[in-house]
Amino acid sequence: MRRPIIAGNWKLNLTITESKQLAQQLVNHLADVADRDIVIAPVFTALTSVAEIIEKSPIQLAGQNCYPQTTGAFTGEVSPKLLRDSGCHYVILGHSERRQLLGETDSFINQKLLKTLEADLKPILCIGETLQEREDQQMQEILSRQIKGGLTNLTEEQMGDVIIAYEPIWAIGTGKTATTEQAQQAHAFIRNLVLELFSPGVAAETRILYGGSVKPDNVDGLMGEEDIDGALVGGASLKAEDFSRIVRFKK
Ligand code: PGA
Repeated sequence: MRRPIIAGNWKLNLTITESKQLAQQLVNHLADVADRDIVIAPVFTALTSVAEIIEKSPIQLAGQNCYPQTTGAFTGEVSPKLLRDSGCHYVILGHSERRQLLGETDSFINQKLLKTLEADLKPILCIGETLQEREDQQMQEILSRQIKGGLTNLTEEQMGDVIIAYEPIWAIGTGKTATTEQAQQAHAFIRNLVLELFSPGVAAETRILYGGSVKPDNVDGLMGEEDIDGALVGGASLKAEDFSRIVRFKK
């Protein structure tokens, strides 16, 4: 059985004080949750403050990005080891905003992913097509390139720590969610790619999250689909009540 994960991507939002307030509200709302993983990804500057607040709660911390080196002359970057040092257990990699705004490539994301695993952090590898690509019937080709590129040189054992997030770019921050059928279809396709690249066992165990305008009113439908194992939530993760309701999805 795949344990569900609900992850909140706070993106470039909230001061340290605001992050602590939101984290405290989440701790109050979610202290009793034990059957699913809950992850939040604040900005780097708030990580250690938030880590203290969630310490004794079921909520775990994620970085929103990292650099594929441990130390050295890499001005402005943060390594997986330092994220771990700040209390993180996860890191979001290859988010479409980084691919689009900062030109991140599959091979660069792959280097980060390998380094992340060395540092005992679980990567959440984001993939997804644009609206144009979907309309041009290129979705499968894009997803396949992102999966193969992102997961190059990984062992079956390492795959046990990898989480994939399917986020169709046209659904991110737009209020347009993929239908449950569209999401399930993409997830099944991704799971099959993992099977081809690794093994049926790895494919059956890999958790695949859906992201893109996940809200309290659509999460239950999405989570009812066979191959959807959780959600990566942007906008709605900034509101304690909405995020808590998403965490408490009902199938
Ligand atoms: P959204 O963002 O929920 O605001 O659409 C999702 C994401 O970018 O991870």
